[in-house]
Amino acid sequence: MVIAGIVAGGSGRRMGGDIPKQFYELNGKPVIIYTTEVFLKHEKTDRIIIGINPDWADYTKALIKKYFPDNDNIFITDGGADRNETIMNMISFAKNVLSCDDRDIILTHDAVRPFVSSDIISESIAVMDECEICTAAIPETDTVIESEDGKTALAFPDRSRIFRVQTPQTFRLGTFADVYGSLSEQERAAATDVCRLYKSKGYSVILINGDPSNIKLTYLQDYRFAQAQTDDKT
Ligand code: CTP
Repeated sequence: MVIAGIVAGGSGRRMGGDIPKQFYELNGKPVIIYTTEVFLKHEKTDRIIIGINPDWADYTKALIKKYFPDNDNIFITDGGADRNETIMNMISFAKNVLSCDDRDIILTHDAVRPFVSSDIISESIAVMDECEICTAAIPETDTVIESEDGKTALAFPDRSRIFRVQTPQTFRLGTFADVYGSLSEQERAAATDVCRLYKSKGYSVILINGDPSNIKLTYLQDYRFAQAQTDDKT
């Protein structure tokens, strides 16, 4: 089975609004609905699990009912204290409620990347025949400077070796449970990125072609940019 795990358990602190950014509207439609739609339309995605802060579960359920009234392949589960815990909760839900097994695949995707393409999803699923984890990534286009103090340049890493990580990040339910389960509490607190975790446990992390338009809405200016993108298309 192929699961889309939409991580939506964050509060959008850096965006700074009254509601989490995944519920902001673009052209009258919530960001999380754009994201969900792309996975729903993809023929290889069997089920969608959304990991959401329990305070927003009823709100999310109402949105799902409004936009996808006849669909019973979308499920909601509790988000966690951090992104990885949200993923772990989705995996537990997939195994316990949807009867998935350890070899089943989950594409974990930020709810706040509404412009993910169907091609990225297809490529993510296809390469899982040959690997245990893959991530969408794009080549860095700016010159990159390493600095210790943020004021003076220490080194100029070779840009041709630098990529920016996006989502989806795709892996099997069983390997995530193993990798995450093997971490100490301290390691869990420090673990920001799933790919880094897998790499630290000896897995090869495969890069697939992301897309510059697959942006994450982090700050208000990202949202303004996304608004301009969606307004252009009407
Ligand atoms: N996320 C999650 N569970 C958490 C924290 C984050 O599922 N406990 C999700 C967010 O909802 C988002 C994605 O992870 O879709 C990327 O995280 P980020 O952009 O950092 O979102 P927030 O945590 O909401 O933002 P901020 O850090 O500004 O509060």
